[in-house]
Amino acid sequence: MTTPLRLGIAGLGTVGVGVVKIIRQKANLLAARTGRPIVITAVSARSRDKDRGVNLADYAWEDDPVDLAKRDDIDVFVELMGGHEGPAKDATEAAIAAGKDVITANKALLAIHGQALAEAAEAKGCVIRFEAAVAGGIPVVKSLTEGLAGNDITRVMGVMNGTCNYILTRMQDAGLPYDEVFAEADALGYLEADPNLDVGGIDAGHKLSLLSSIAFGTKVAFDGVELEGIQRISIEDINQAADLGYRIKLLGVAQLTGRGLEQRMTPCLVPADSPLGQLTGGTNMVVLEGDAVEQIVLRGPGAGEGPTASAVMGDVCDVARGLRISTFGVPVGALESTQPAQSNSPAPFYLRMALLDRPGALAKVATVLGEFGISIDRMRQGQHDGSEAPVLIVTHKTQRSALNEAIAAMSSTGVLASDPVALRIENV
Ligand code: NDP
Ligand code: HSE
Repeated sequence: MTTPLRLGIAGLGTVGVGVVKIIRQKANLLAARTGRPIVITAVSARSRDKDRGVNLADYAWEDDPVDLAKRDDIDVFVELMGGHEGPAKDATEAAIAAGKDVITANKALLAIHGQALAEAAEAKGCVIRFEAAVAGGIPVVKSLTEGLAGNDITRVMGVMNGTCNYILTRMQDAGLPYDEVFAEADALGYLEADPNLDVGGIDAGHKLSLLSSIAFGTKVAFDGVELEGIQRISIEDINQAADLGYRIKLLGVAQLTGRGLEQRMTPCLVPADSPLGQLTGGTNMVVLEGDAVEQIVLRGPGAGEGPTASAVMGDVCDVARGLRISTFGVPVGALESTQPAQSNSPAPFYLRMALLDRPGALAKVATVLGEFGISIDRMRQGQHDGSEAPVLIVTHKTQRSALNEAIAAMSSTGVLASDPVALRIENV
């Protein structure tokens, strides 16, 4: 008889319950596909008494996930609790120390501690798998590490936070202001416990840093991700972008350039008719570019019980089959320490301002832009609103740093009624 793969699952929330359901419902299929039974030995969560809609009576219960991680009768520790400190980190470290393979959906844990955990796992001969941590149901980690293994990856791009994409597309479709749609997303349960992880771009930044590492063979460098959230995007920006033929997306871009590793997760204007521009609701999209394959586009659900459990099960099946890939695609000692790019590739920018409605205000703004070497492509002045005049400028290609300096200089001219909104235009 073949040896079963024995799982210990810590975390029985949205994702954990989804995994339990698949294992219970598809036992024969999974065994046929992997050549061995996949069984759950023990589980852990905070509350033992909670009705989770699945039968847990067959599994041993551990109050402490660290105790679960160390059990002799599990082969794989499945971490589905979340958080980059506390029980998730403690139990993952304990599992590796005990020689268990680890499967996790926890992007925060790996973005912050991935290098140390990968080193510990490799020293113990264990694997860490994390397909569900990036873009939910989309098998992007597998695509990079396996399907595209023959490529030099040149660029990774994408929309990797479904909540932000929901908020931005709902603002666009319903013409609603940010605060109202944020409240809707909250009521629908879309937001993380700390909403800033979503709308501040941090969750998506964690995901991008993991993809960068696999794509470019570099150490995970979440600290090097230029992060900007969507909190300052107004319905005015959404409408102005639409008039110009664009949509606003929280877009991640990572590329290894002569200037270093460029990683940014920022709201950008993308062409309305591009695949990224057409992406609506909570769906994710990842664009992978390699020297041989050129470009592939992966699109699918970035969150939710079924899609995320689907990704966890892909990892479970790989471990059951005996596939042993280094955490970030190459042995941990081969991951390079790469400097963050000192400057990003230049791009046109959208610059929306409210100017005090007085003679020479517009001229002052244009002069400051010129002083910083920024050339204006298009300019439009909107309807005066009392003492303020809305102005929209589209620049020719420039550096974000030059634009930031110009905006700082504009502030001292006394013509700005409020802080300008500057968004990169990505003609993807
Ligand atoms: P939930 O909040 O739904 O579930 C978390 C689970 O962890 C709960 O069962 C909770 O127990 C348990 N837990 C929390 N703290 C402890 C502790 N100290 N000891 C034991 N158990 C604990 O989270 P999700 O299922 O949504 O997310 C799990 C992971 O998957 C996270 O890392 C998340 O980022 C990631 N992820 C989630 C996605 C999603 O769509 N939900 C998508 C992609 C990734 P109890 O139920 O008793 O409170
Ligand atoms: N908060 C995340 C999102 C969940 O909205 O995409 C999936 O990682």
